[in-house]
Amino acid sequence: MMNHSQSTGADYNYTIVRQFALTTVLWGIVGMAVGVLIAAQLIWPQLNFETPWLTFSRLRPLHTNAVIFAFGTSALFATSYYVVQRTCQIRLFAPKLAAFTFWGWQAVIIAAAITLPMGFTQGKEYAELEWPIDIAIAVIWVSYAIVFFGTIAKRTTSHIYVANWFFGAFIITVAVLHIVNSMAVPVSLFKSYSLYSGAVDAMVQWWYGHNAVGFLLTAGFLGMMYYFVPKQAGRPVYSYRLSIVHFWALIALYIWAGPHHLHYTALPDWTQSLGMVMSLILFAPSWGGMINGIMTLSGAWHKLRTDPVLRFLVVSLSFYGMSTFEGPMMAIKTVNALSHYTDWTVGHVHSGALGWVAMVSIGSLYHLVPVLFGHGRMYSTSLVNVHFWLATIGTVLYIVSMWISGVMQGLMWRAVNSDGTLTYSFVESLEASYPFYFVRFLGGCFFLTGMLIMAYNVLRTVKAPKDSLPALAEA
Ligand code: HEM
Ligand code: HEM
Repeated sequence: MMNHSQSTGADYNYTIVRQFALTTVLWGIVGMAVGVLIAAQLIWPQLNFETPWLTFSRLRPLHTNAVIFAFGTSALFATSYYVVQRTCQIRLFAPKLAAFTFWGWQAVIIAAAITLPMGFTQGKEYAELEWPIDIAIAVIWVSYAIVFFGTIAKRTTSHIYVANWFFGAFIITVAVLHIVNSMAVPVSLFKSYSLYSGAVDAMVQWWYGHNAVGFLLTAGFLGMMYYFVPKQAGRPVYSYRLSIVHFWALIALYIWAGPHHLHYTALPDWTQSLGMVMSLILFAPSWGGMINGIMTLSGAWHKLRTDPVLRFLVVSLSFYGMSTFEGPMMAIKTVNALSHYTDWTVGHVHSGALGWVAMVSIGSLYHLVPVLFGHGRMYSTSLVNVHFWLATIGTVLYIVSMWISGVMQGLMWRAVNSDGTLTYSFVESLEASYPFYFVRFLGGCFFLTGMLIMAYNVLRTVKAPKDSLPALAEA
């Protein structure tokens, strides 16, 4: 298939971007459908059909791996490969290696989808996959780095646009995190033991886990934000200087905050306090980035009335702001004493995951798909609008229900009678959580329905005859 030539005259490699863009939608649906299923299992446990590979314990890591590494990471591959070519005004470096990253990544996803339900796991959250798959991930990731940085090195522009700084930091850091945390001694093809033990193992794991949040679920998506928000708004980034300060402050701080996942554990107390303080300071660059994104709309606010794609992007930034206010609060040890182990954490996760990660990806894809397939707009703008409302309502139902059930659980578990005995049994707190689990399930159904509508809209856009979808005139 021919690649579309751009006005700059450069002939970009869009094949790889198209492949990753389409698989983002596919894996989004699969990962979220598993999310809806496990949300339902928490209300109706019989939905595991007494089948080992359908149990919550095996499907939960399938959900987290599918949404983070299949859906989210495909969105990052697609947008980084697109943005690096457009902003460096050069074709992607090493196209065969780029194609290898696509097929290799699909193979990793399939391997995860088979081995996780079978129960093969290293037992480390977000790093469950067994050692042969870990090695494959490392090889693909290094290839990704070669393609990305090779393109930067060959650029025809003198300047490296800030979005590439964020994508670059995400690519390098994820490689380091993955390789260090996955160090293990294999005992068979499907079983290995971590090289680390005890508190050191826990610390390495949450240094990885937190920075997977910081560099994959945050820095990568900020790269997306810095390209697609100005593009969709038709305005330059609000402050280029702020974006540089934002970048260095964010990457300098995130790396220290991991211990907030291990408050009140065997980890040395000073490490916990350091993690707490770094998390509190992290609020500043996070909001600096959010403000930079939102203020980019100065002079273009009226576009929100007619452009649901821009609405996706701006609302995602609002959720980013909300979750990065909530995170530092939850990192305070006394607050964490209440929130840890409860659904409050799950609510925080999904305000970041659905509100920020999924919505910024969806908004960026609605910008990207028409360009990739030679159109001026999506097949149906009203369906984009319906999707926007389903996603927003779904996210709100999810996070509000989890906040209430989380705080309620925390308070019930710590309530004591005057004689020192516990006021509530654990089962009572579980029973009290059911209505909120139902609301969360409903929120998930809303969000998933939106994704199915997106798949239909994307398919119609891909199949539409050339020039049949011209850009809408600006309101
Ligand atoms: C339809 C949408 C979704 C539904 C219904 C859903 C549902 C769930 C459920 C029921 C859990 C388990 C909670 C528990 O163990 O108590 C969970 C965990 C998780 N989900 Fe989702 N999810 C959805 C979308 C997403 C997306 C898009 C992402 C990421 C981009 C995501 C990331 C996670 C993570 C990281 C966890 C683990 C949370 C923790 O350990 O605290 N989810 N999800
Ligand atoms: C300034 C930014 C942030 C800070 C300081 C922060 C802080 C925290 C804290 C304190 C916890 C609870 C740890 C525990 O009690 O176990 C947590 C959990 C979590 N946060 Fe954040 N958060 C931030 C932003 C985000 C964003 C934007 C996301 C993204 C999508 C996110 C995803 C997660 C996930 C997945 C977990 C659950 C980890 C687990 O236990 O499995 N966070 N965060």
